[in-house]
Amino acid sequence: MRQVSETALATVDAPLRGRIAIVTGALGKLGPVWAEALAEAGATVVPVDLRDGDGVLCADVTDRAALDEARERVEAEHGTPHVLVNNAGVDQPPAAAATTYAVEDVPLEDFRRTLDVNLAGTFNAIQVFGSAMRDAGRGSIVNIGSLYASIAAEPRFYDHMDADPPFLKPAAYGASKAGVVNLTRYFARLWGPSGVRVNALSPGGVRGGQDPDFLRKYNERVPLGRMAEADDLVGPLLFLASDASRYVTGHELRVDGGFTA
Ligand SMILES: NC(=O)c1ccc[n+]([C@@H]2O[C@H](COP(=O)([O-])OP(=O)(O)OC[C@H]3O[C@@H](n4cnc5c(N)ncnc54)[C@H](O)[C@@H]3O)[C@@H](O)[C@H]2O)c1
Repeated sequence: MRQVSETALATVDAPLRGRIAIVTGALGKLGPVWAEALAEAGATVVPVDLRDGDGVLCADVTDRAALDEARERVEAEHGTPHVLVNNAGVDQPPAAAATTYAVEDVPLEDFRRTLDVNLAGTFNAIQVFGSAMRDAGRGSIVNIGSLYASIAAEPRFYDHMDADPPFLKPAAYGASKAGVVNLTRYFARLWGPSGVRVNALSPGGVRGGQDPDFLRKYNERVPLGRMAEADDLVGPLLFLASDASRYVTGHELRVDGGFTA
């Protein structure tokens, strides 16, 4: 006797055929990873970014009017989205040229800006695109968190750098991502009855140009012994975006090689 229904099996092959997917912050390092994965799974992808790019809807996620306009364009050209990947975010990379501060001197403005883009921007996009999904009675929202939603950044990862005061991962970054995970639960509870699932995908650090000392220190802390590769993130994203996760909502899927275990 068949244990798995045809509908469940259909989620394996081109699981997003006929679906419309929005990806915010589409022009950075991970945006194209999400966009490509969704497109390969059959979705029509609408990239949104602060910056201008080919085929990209230009909108600042902190700007309600800009997002409303983007939504109108998407509705007119494609219809109501089925998938929203809230990926736009800001962080301060440990580049040698970056300004560093003693923690007591970090400008409150910098702290607020990180919360504004990462947390309020996610809220704003959920309000605009998510409410349309709620009205349509279906949809999957994937909020991109971080391992730093759950644990504090390790200052020793950066203490080999030639910076005075020493580089610190911004306190606001993890705080904003913890907020994103809680927001995920909020909307999962609110919109579950309307058929909209809301989950978080929290990647560990993704490899790309980090210096060898950082890599050694970081990798030693990861049970799976390495940073994430873009390909490690594809399966988890497609799982959350598609009906493969149709009974999953309010979940934070940590894709960090066990760092937070
Ligand atoms: N790269 C990693 O190692 C890593 C690890 C964990 C989590 N993340 C998270 O994944 C997401 C993507 O990270 P990334 O490495 O691609 O970052 P990135 O800086 O390379 O790209 C971010 C993109 O967001 C856009 N953006 C910034 N502010 C915006 C705004 N106000 N409105 C619209 N777009 C805006 C930028 O223009 C850029 O294209 C972020 O939320 C980040 O916190 C990244």
